[in-house]
Amino acid sequence: MADCNVVVLISGSGSNLQALIDSIAHDGNPARIAAVISNRADAYGLERAKQAGITTRVLDHKQFDGREAFDAALVEAIDGFDPHLVVLAGFMRILTGGFVRHYEGRLLNIHPSLLPKYKGLHTHQRALEAGDSEHGCSVHFVTEELDGGPLVVQAVVPVESGDTPELLAQRVHGQEHHIYPLAMRWFAEGRLRLNDTGAQLDGTDLPATGYLIRT
Ligand code: GRF
Repeated sequence: MADCNVVVLISGSGSNLQALIDSIAHDGNPARIAAVISNRADAYGLERAKQAGITTRVLDHKQFDGREAFDAALVEAIDGFDPHLVVLAGFMRILTGGFVRHYEGRLLNIHPSLLPKYKGLHTHQRALEAGDSEHGCSVHFVTEELDGGPLVVQAVVPVESGDTPELLAQRVHGQEHHIYPLAMRWFAEGRLRLNDTGAQLDGTDLPATGYLIRT
């Protein structure tokens, strides 16, 4: 892919966005972030984008009459930047089926668990309560099932004795900052695709876990 335009959607701190920005600036990641869009005006990630000279937009979901109207406006805003890829980086909105279908095969999300375990919120606490010895994070293509699309890459993080949700979250977050730039790079290099059988890397079906990284 000659130039891979990426639009990143955020709602908060944007540490994953920062990792994507850094991988482009320092590690030769061939993607280009065309814009960062937030549904919250106070998202710190907007500052990170501005610092990096990236165009930002705020689209406040509270200004819209329902999910469909918001998502329609979001599609219009995103498509104004001609993206090859849309990256959800802590975007705390459930997306409509229409939105997800519009970006099929070019919409990625990151989730702080080893999917399919612990979809939704409070993943670190749930992993600890279950007594899991391993936890981690996942990048996946987005489909209409919440946190349910084909997996691209997972990083496994061992649970340590004395872990709290906060400590575990910190280590998982560290791995998120590794696997999201990796997935964006694969996509930008034309190596990562979604087809009928699932996610493919270099023309070969990825395993159900996605590419697995053990730390
Ligand atoms: C991350 O834990 C990500 O897995 C989840 O939202 C969080 C975003 O964190 N989807 P940040 O805003 O990138 O720091």
